Amino acid sequence: MDRSPSFRPPVGLNLLLLLLALLLGGQAATEFYGIPGIPGLPGAPGKDGYDGLQGPKGEPGIPAIPGTRGPKGQKGEAGTPGYPGKNGPMGASGLPGVPGFIGLPGEPGEEGRYKQKHQSVFTVTRQTVQYPASNSLVKFNTVVTNPQGDYNTSTGKFTCKVPGLYYFVHHTSQTANLCVQLYHNGVQMTTFCDHMSSSKQVSSGGVLLRLREGAQVWLAVNDYNGMVGTEGSDSVFSGFLLFPD
Ligand SMILES: *[C@@H]1O[C@H](CO)[C@@H](O)[C@H](O)[C@H]1NC(C)=O
Repeated sequence: MDRSPSFRPPVGLNLLLLLLALLLGGQAATEFYGIPGIPGLPGAPGKDGYDGLQGPKGEPGIPAIPGTRGPKGQKGEAGTPGYPGKNGPMGASGLPGVPGFIGLPGEPGEEGRYKQKHQSVFTVTRQTVQYPASNSLVKFNTVVTNPQGDYNTSTGKFTCKVPGLYYFVHHTSQTANLCVQLYHNGVQMTTFCDHMSSSKQVSSGGVLLRLREGAQVWLAVNDYNGMVGTEGSDSVFSGFLLFPD
């Protein structure tokens, strides 16, 4: 409190002023004649306090009243199809179907036994009192056995159908000198000659030949051609397949 030394009020007044100052407020104890200031502006609000402790649990509420069911709504749209389900268990077997069409014929089977398939036999006779022509083929004009027809009485030739080993044999009656020849495809294979020493004779001969299919075999005579075929004096020519190839 700065106080001018030159001014010194009397004690009475001084006391009065002191009282006044006391009345006006403590701060004015040393002021004189000051006009009271206007009240200050309100201070800024203080910061928020800390949260209080949690309150006690409230009382139970009033039980709710169940609402009444409303009217049925309209049908909704169909939803998207779901995923396919798992396969069910296998069902029972169905009835047998109707038989199918008959198939095409199969390939030919294996060859059967030679007994059944490969056969070739013949016996033929020459029935005539006339001698065959000299140096020519002799036709045996009558069939005794010829199931396969391999000997042709028209041509006087045997024709091989089944290749293999064949045996040929002839028994000829004669009333004159005779030479019987056997030909295989035009090649002379055997010749049997018999000169007469009595009124009637029989001569014979045989040969085994391997024949190919189509081969031909026949008998012939040369200059000696006294072959006959009469009652009691037959001339026969036979052949048969022994082993097929
Ligand atoms: C015998 O041969 C003749 C002349 O080749 C022929 O016409 C005839 O059909 C043959 N006969 C048989 C049974 O094969």
